Amino acid sequence: MKLIGPFKQIVTLANLPLRGKLSDEQLEIIPDGGILVKDGTILKTGNFSALKAEFSEIEIEEIKGEQVCLPAFTDSHTHICFGGNRANDFALRNAGKTYLEIAESGGGIWSSVLHTRKATEDELLQTVLERINFLIALGITTIEIKSGYGLDVENELKMLRVIKKAQSFTKATLVPTCLSAHLKPKDFTGSSEEYLEYIIDEILPKIKAENLAKRVDIFIEKSAFLPEESRNFLLKAKEIGFEITVHADQFTSGSSRIAVEVGAKSADHLEATIDEDIEFLAKSNTVATALPGASLGLGEKFTPARKILDAGGILAIASDWNPGSAPMGNLITQASILATFEKLSTAEVLAGITFRSAFALNLEDRGILENGKKADFITFKTDNFQNILYHQGSLKAEHIFIDGEKV
Ligand code: NIG
Ligand code: FE
Repeated sequence: MKLIGPFKQIVTLANLPLRGKLSDEQLEIIPDGGILVKDGTILKTGNFSALKAEFSEIEIEEIKGEQVCLPAFTDSHTHICFGGNRANDFALRNAGKTYLEIAESGGGIWSSVLHTRKATEDELLQTVLERINFLIALGITTIEIKSGYGLDVENELKMLRVIKKAQSFTKATLVPTCLSAHLKPKDFTGSSEEYLEYIIDEILPKIKAENLAKRVDIFIEKSAFLPEESRNFLLKAKEIGFEITVHADQFTSGSSRIAVEVGAKSADHLEATIDEDIEFLAKSNTVATALPGASLGLGEKFTPARKILDAGGILAIASDWNPGSAPMGNLITQASILATFEKLSTAEVLAGITFRSAFALNLEDRGILENGKKADFITFKTDNFQNILYHQGSLKAEHIFIDGEKV
């Protein structure tokens, strides 16, 4: 057992609703706080001096200077296992080229597939670990990572094995997701329906046998998979025991409805979701995940986060870090910018990158600093929590604790 502190402020995020809007006045803030930790779990939070007096014999890990402490962040949507880069796509897009023109000139998701297929497991492992460490330094200790740049049995399994191996080199929690349904690969000779069947018959059973992922994702979009074939695919994946998440309504609306109807844990993107579908989504238990990094990478509009919260939805915010549409990877900067455009409170943003995004990953053991939760928390060298988003990512996390240990 150990007491960690003192912290100028602890923002616990305790006692907040899972869904709907939040104001900063609702935040529980413990001034001059301390956190009591045992075996990687939080035993108690409270006034540091009072805890010190109550547990007079215990070890103290002293925190120097003025530090604000809050739950570590969860990035519930990334594609950080990939080879190569797409800087040329970015430049072409900014020069006015369309998605199709870029794909035809050798860019797009397919070019990342070719680079990822060419990379060895060791090369992929090195790059994914570098990106994981970048995210940890931002204060993110739970990271979802998708496959989806392999697009055949051999290479999808290669990606997921790399992610599994990466877990043995990091204290962060990695959550792998199978995104074999990212795109029908150019070298698959059948129809897109046949490709989805191939995933069900050939890829998912092997993922299950090797315990490589528990979640399945699909990109429902004109350029990827159509609504009806996607629905059938998701229902089958669910039947064999996978949790579902969906790339929904990025450019065209309609697929967030499918996500809700199949009971997906989350529907992500939603830049194009129409008002009626926002209402439908917001009434469900499917988390609505905004990906401002994709809006910034593509120069497209933001997810209607304000409307989702006002309608009572569960809003998470994730980075979507990938080589094509979201190359930045800085979730704190992205969430801060989303807040300025969508008029989100600090509380709404913090909830969206902590307990609400963890809920999207079915991890209800974290993202709140209270008795019984996982002792993942972070500090920023400042005297007020509002400074974190105010600096739009340029105020860096100072200390990162995972399971109560500084990393
Ligand atoms: O979430 N929308 C589809 N998939 C990714 C983009 C992946 C890529 O361009 O490589 C996304 O934005
Ligand atoms: Fe994505």
